[in-house]
Amino acid sequence: MALIATTDGPAEWLEREFPEHCCQWHSTGVLRGIELLLVHQTQVDLPLLHRLPDLKGVIRLGVGYDKVDLNACLQRGVSVTNLPGYCTEEVALSTLAFVMDWVRGHGELEANLKVDPARWQNHLLARVRGLKDVRVGVIGAGRIGSKVMQLAATLGFQICAYDPHVSVPEGRVDRLETLLQTADVVSLHVPLQAETAGLIDAAFISQMKDDALLINTARGGLLGDVNALLDGIRHRGMSACFDVLPEEPDIAQSPLFQHWLQGTYAGRLRITPHNAFHSAQSAEQLLADARQELVHFLQNGTFVSPIL
Ligand code: NAI
Repeated sequence: MALIATTDGPAEWLEREFPEHCCQWHSTGVLRGIELLLVHQTQVDLPLLHRLPDLKGVIRLGVGYDKVDLNACLQRGVSVTNLPGYCTEEVALSTLAFVMDWVRGHGELEANLKVDPARWQNHLLARVRGLKDVRVGVIGAGRIGSKVMQLAATLGFQICAYDPHVSVPEGRVDRLETLLQTADVVSLHVPLQAETAGLIDAAFISQMKDDALLINTARGGLLGDVNALLDGIRHRGMSACFDVLPEEPDIAQSPLFQHWLQGTYAGRLRITPHNAFHSAQSAEQLLADARQELVHFLQNGTFVSPIL
């Protein structure tokens, strides 16, 4: 009988739902018989695969699969799937919440008020504008990027998107530079892979408008040059909202985290703890989607939507 294990996923759920297949995970040694592995934050690489000689499939309990070495899995003939779509609305809403907060200047107004109560009824925040004057630019117009565009357009923002790999029905720009130079809000919704790692570099930042907002709810590894970003915030009035950090989960030494902690940049740097995906509904949906893939694999030996 095929055995299923999880390194850092919902072990109790697995035991309840698949009692006859479920087996316990051990963090050392060779584990025979495990054919299916559920992973959350675990790095799936050659050393892990060596410990699992009977492995046939990996389910990444989430959307991004940058921690899974696809080449290693391919070499070993291990199929891989992720769970796309369980939190599209949540991440899009988190992004829009960042946009709305920035448009109304809440972070900055609060920070200014904290240092000087005399700023009550102070209306000097020049960049506070109406919806129609703000252009929201999305990099990566997949599930989440498209939803952000749809919500932003419904609210009355101008929208545009850069994605060389898919067709974009509205607001497509053919060059990344065009988006960076014209958008007031730049929001990243691309996967972390060789093509996108370190995308936010000095050239990227220098092409953004002064006063613009950069949002990253995708992956910390997209940030290539933190100093360029901090310079932009310090000297050009830029703002940044990050739900993900390059150093996570060990964020204590992260320069962005440190500046945020110290309250530098008067509310123009906001950080949330990789939480954009979360809601009671998305947590349920994640398990429902995992169940569907597990059952399909047990019955057919393949995933419903394999990456590999
Ligand atoms: P998706 O696969 O539907 O869309 C990604 C889009 O990026 C695709 O349309 C692709 O063509 C495009 N793309 C790839 N390389 C590009 C490039 N160099 N320039 C422009 N576009 C490019 O993925 P989805 O569901 O929209 O998720 C996007 C990312 O969001 C995930 O890969 C994941 O890393 C992140 N994420 C973060 C969460 C959080 O809680 N913070 C939760 C869920 C996803």
